[in-house]
Amino acid sequence: MSSRPRFKDRIALVTGASRGLGRAFALALAREGAHVVVCARSAGALEDLDDEIRAIGGKATILKLDLKAADRIDQLGPVLFQRWGKLDILVAAGGILGSLSPLPHVTADAWQQVLDINLSANWRLIRTLDPLLKRSDAGRALFVTAAEASGDLAYWGPYAVSKAGLEALAKTYAHEVANTGVHVNLLDPGPMRTGLRAKAFPGEDKAKLSDPSAVAAFALPLLSAAATDNGTLVHFEPPAESAAQLAASNDA
Ligand SMILES: NC(=O)c1ccc[n+]([C@@H]2O[C@H](COP(=O)([O-])OP(=O)(O)OC[C@H]3O[C@@H](n4cnc5c(N)ncnc54)[C@H](OP(=O)(O)O)[C@@H]3O)[C@@H](O)[C@H]2O)c1
Repeated sequence: MSSRPRFKDRIALVTGASRGLGRAFALALAREGAHVVVCARSAGALEDLDDEIRAIGGKATILKLDLKAADRIDQLGPVLFQRWGKLDILVAAGGILGSLSPLPHVTADAWQQVLDINLSANWRLIRTLDPLLKRSDAGRALFVTAAEASGDLAYWGPYAVSKAGLEALAKTYAHEVANTGVHVNLLDPGPMRTGLRAKAFPGEDKAKLSDPSAVAAFALPLLSAAATDNGTLVHFEPPAESAAQLAASNDA
């Protein structure tokens, strides 16, 4: 007898779904029965993802969205309410690196862009989606941070500040919903084989980086109705053997 898929008929919204980690989350959720609203700017990539989800028997809705378009984000809540009346899962994976340079060289536009996309857009998502997450019997929100939030690296200023702010944002929200059915957590995925990472470290050996699908599989339990964590920051650590295997196969 087959068991009921973990996310059967859950409504999930994933930002950054066109590539990398967001795409991996969208596929993983759809594979386990969720109807996934896939958000990003790249229409072609979202259509390809939609095809892939349908091919595995899943359900998706494409929502082309620029996280810089504040008014569009503000409309998300009402739009989703009209269609589904609730939201069970939010995975906020959309983000950018920005340029890596000394703080005095960062232009005002570059600073604003990173803060708008990595931080303010997530506050707007919380603001418009909070009523819908509360209408779910077990609303779950996951925000994607990075080790650079510590501020321990030179030249990563806007990205580091945006992720530090995101961590404060998500933890604050977790406190605010502590007495509701909504749980809010943070994921530090570690170095992954994605476009964002390649932009920061173009020359590195990609075989040593985690596959985003392994990271999504690791974090998926936080999104289930049975999960109890709230206000937690979880770190993905690749299994030691698989990292060594990947490195060995790369040397072969
Ligand atoms: N890769 C790593 O090693 C690493 C490590 C730590 C944390 N992270 C975090 O993990 C998350 C996912 O990153 P990734 O590595 O998967 O990056 P990625 O492959 O570059 O994907 C980034 C995603 O964000 C979307 N995005 C970028 N700008 C957007 C905008 N203005 N409006 C809407 N969507 C936008 C992109 O879609 P479109 O371009 O189609 O809009 C894309 O789907 C990010 O928050 C990142 O900071 C990554």
